Amino acid sequence: MNAQTWNPDGYERHGRFVSDFGLDLLAWLDPRAGERILDLGCGDGALTEKLAALGCKVVAVDSSPQFVEAAKRRGLDARRVDGERLTFDGEFDAVFSNAALHWMKRADAVIAGVRRALRQGGRFVAEMGGRGNVDSIVGALRDALERRGVDSATVNPWYFPDAQEYRQRLEAGGFRVLRIKRFPRPTPLPSDMIGWLETFAQSFTACLPAGERIAVLAEVRDALLPLLRDEEGRWTADYVRLRFEARKT
Ligand code: BEZ
Repeated sequence: MNAQTWNPDGYERHGRFVSDFGLDLLAWLDPRAGERILDLGCGDGALTEKLAALGCKVVAVDSSPQFVEAAKRRGLDARRVDGERLTFDGEFDAVFSNAALHWMKRADAVIAGVRRALRQGGRFVAEMGGRGNVDSIVGALRDALERRGVDSATVNPWYFPDAQEYRQRLEAGGFRVLRIKRFPRPTPLPSDMIGWLETFAQSFTACLPAGERIAVLAEVRDALLPLLRDEEGRWTADYVRLRFEARKT
């Protein structure tokens, strides 16, 4: 079950770092003016806008209606599309995706749809959470839910593969992998851990009554205090990234 909904204002306050970090990924994409690019899981379109400003012809897709509206407000061609059910056919020179693929658990369906969307030789450049991503947060959520008799595996919306697994999926799905790497990226949070949890981890608590949700978030925060907050009160999440460039064969 993925009970996640996105509020673009909350995202601006607690999650803007996601697209800020994504700027680095644009260098891997190496976009050229006139290229047709699909931004898969565009969020509020902050990175799509950069591609459009470079002269690329970009289509931005996301499964969240709130994000699609936010991307449209930037003047982008944004469409509500399920990333596990892409229907584009040979239309793009590249598919780009930042911090979205880990929300799509049917990885092989995603890869097949991306391949279909690309022209021959087209590239797939993406970054997502890799194995071990936000491990301490996932562990604290698991413990708090377990105390209430909930198996967190049934509500965890994320897929964080390692490089070898994702490489195999890409190769089996008709891609040649040019480079792939998994690396830790400790990520300073702009606000309290509660803000992060409320923005990104809704699926874990959606099955609980409202009062219980608040108690879970407080317990998770307490468990993470000694791990992720420094003496000055700054929170740093234990992000691990998986980044790759692949070409349609
Ligand atoms: C990530 O970008 O790795 C991420 C974002 C939200 C929740 C979990 C992971």
